Parts: sequence; structure tokens; C-alpha cells
Amino acid sequence: MRIDLELLDGVFEQYGTDKGALIGVLQGAQNLYGYLPMEVLDSIAKHMKMTTAKVLGVATFYAQFRTKPIGKNLILLCQGTACHVNNSAMVEETINNHLSIAEGEITPDGLFSYSNVACLGCCSLAPAMMIGEKVYGNLTREKIEKILDDIKGGAAS
Ligand code: FES
Repeated sequence: MRIDLELLDGVFEQYGTDKGALIGVLQGAQNLYGYLPMEVLDSIAKHMKMTTAKVLGVATFYAQFRTKPIGKNLILLCQGTACHVNNSAMVEETINNHLSIAEGEITPDGLFSYSNVACLGCCSLAPAMMIGEKVYGNLTREKIEKILDDIKGGAAS
């Protein structure tokens, strides 16, 4: 996929190019591209008169930033304590098997990727995961497969 670096101009206009604006610039860039590709980090470094290593360091320090592309549906799989106790390992295994991806990978159709995260804030529903704005709780193997298949079906129709 070609990355249009000119789109970044609007982000610099909005946040400025002072070093203190870096977090805002990274957020703006991630909103634009969905993640922070190396070319984008390079361009940010040039504009903000920093080294790419420094910008990359900040981008990888904060959990909110992604340096790899994600699928159309990012599954946030809770690995917090309550979910862990209620078998989040089964949830991950089901996703691994059903979609044939590991964390950080994208399905070949570009529809899914997943990240392990800490508590989603709905521990009474453990084990839980979130896709887009929607929380799915009390997960079982069958439930997870149906949720994923429904999303696939929706994308195909
Ligand atoms: S531990 Fe999973 S929602 Fe809180």
C-alpha cells in the first residue's frame, strides 16, 4: 500500500512541529493511517528535527501506538486478572485456530488482527474481548467462533 506522506501536513498544521507536540502528532498520524509505518515516523522525525530512533522510541513506548498495520476489525483480547482466571488462554487459542493468526498478524483477507490488552473494565463478563466499540463477554469457544463468523459473513454480504 502506498503511503501518502503529504497527508501529514494537516497533522503538523494542527499540532505544530515543536518537540512537545510529538504525542499529538503521533496520534494524528495514527488516526490517518491506522498505524505508524516507518516512512511516517521518518517524515515526522524530519519535520520535528529529531532522530527517527527517538520518534520510534516514543511510538513503541506507549501502548496506544501501533507500528504495524492492523486488520479491519481489531480484536482486543483481555488478559487482565479476572479474564486470565476465567480462561482467556482459551479465547486466544480459539482466535489463533479459527483465524490462523498470532497476535499482531493480519488475516489474509485483511479483516482481523488482535492484540492482548489489560483489563477492559468489564471484569464481571470475564473472559471478555472487544471488537470496535462492542464488548463480548462470558466467552466460550462456540460463542467466539460465531462472533467471528458473523463479522466475516457481514463483510461478505
Ligand atoms: S480483567 Fe478482563 S475485563 Fe477486567
